[in-house]
Amino acid sequence: TVYPDQHIASVKVAKRIADIIRSKQEVGEAAVLGLATGATPVGVYAELVRLHREEGLSFRNVITFNLDEYYPMQPDAAQSYVTFMNEHLFNHIDIDRENVHIPDGTLPKEEIHDYCLSYERKIEEVGGLDFQILGIGRTGHIGFNEPGSAPNSGTRLVTLDDLTRRDAARDFGGKENVPTKAITMGIGTIFKAREIILMAWSQKKAPIIKKAVEGDMSSDVPATYLQLSNSVEFVLDEAAASDL
Ligand code: GLP
Repeated sequence: TVYPDQHIASVKVAKRIADIIRSKQEVGEAAVLGLATGATPVGVYAELVRLHREEGLSFRNVITFNLDEYYPMQPDAAQSYVTFMNEHLFNHIDIDRENVHIPDGTLPKEEIHDYCLSYERKIEEVGGLDFQILGIGRTGHIGFNEPGSAPNSGTRLVTLDDLTRRDAARDFGGKENVPTKAITMGIGTIFKAREIILMAWSQKKAPIIKKAVEGDMSSDVPATYLQLSNSVEFVLDEAAASDL
C-alpha cells in the first residue's frame, strides 16, 4: 500500500495496532505485538502515544517483544534499543513493564543460546505474535537478519553487515564504535506472526524495496522471504515505492 507521505501511513498503521488492542480487550485477551526500532516506526509510536493520551487507548493488555538489540549493549546506554523504546513509547503509555521484552545485550556469550530459546518460548507461551512491525535495512535485513540468514532461522546472535554498521555510525559517533554483533529474532520467528507490516519511507529505501518486492527470493536479500507469506503488507510512502 502506497501512501502520499509517511505521516499518513504511520497514522494508518497505528490505527491498525489500536484496533487489534481494542478487539483483544473486548474479549479479555492480551494483544501480543512484535516491535521494531530505527527511524521508520517513530511516527507509529508517536501516534500510539497520542491515541493513549487523547483517546484513552490503554496498553494494559499489551505484551511486546522487540525484534533485536545490539550485542554487547547495556540497557541504559543512549544507543540501546531499550532506551529507544522507552523514549519513543513505553515511558508515555500505561504498559505493565513486566509485559515488555527486549533481547538482553548484557549476557555472557555462553548463555546467549539458551536465552534465545527462552525468548522464543516466551512468545509461544503467550499465544504467539498477533502483529509484527518491520522496517528494512539497506542490506535487505529485517530485524538484524542480515544477508545469509535462513528462512527458518530463530532468535540468535548474529554478525552485523558492514553497511548496517556504517548506517548506524552516526548514532555511535563513528562506525568503529558500533557493536559488531546483535541478538535478533529470526526470520522463522517473524514469520509466525499472524500479521506483518513492513514499512519504508524515502528515496533511500527505494532500491531495496524494489529488490524485496520484485527480486528473486534469496538469502542475499532476506526481506525477499516475505514474498512467501500471505500475511504481509508493505506500507510505503511514494518515494520508497518509486522504483516499483
Ligand atoms: C536497524 C534495525 C532494523 C531496522 C533497520 C532500518 O538496524 N535493527 O529493525 O528496520 O535498521 O532502520 P531505519 O528505520 O532507521 O531506516
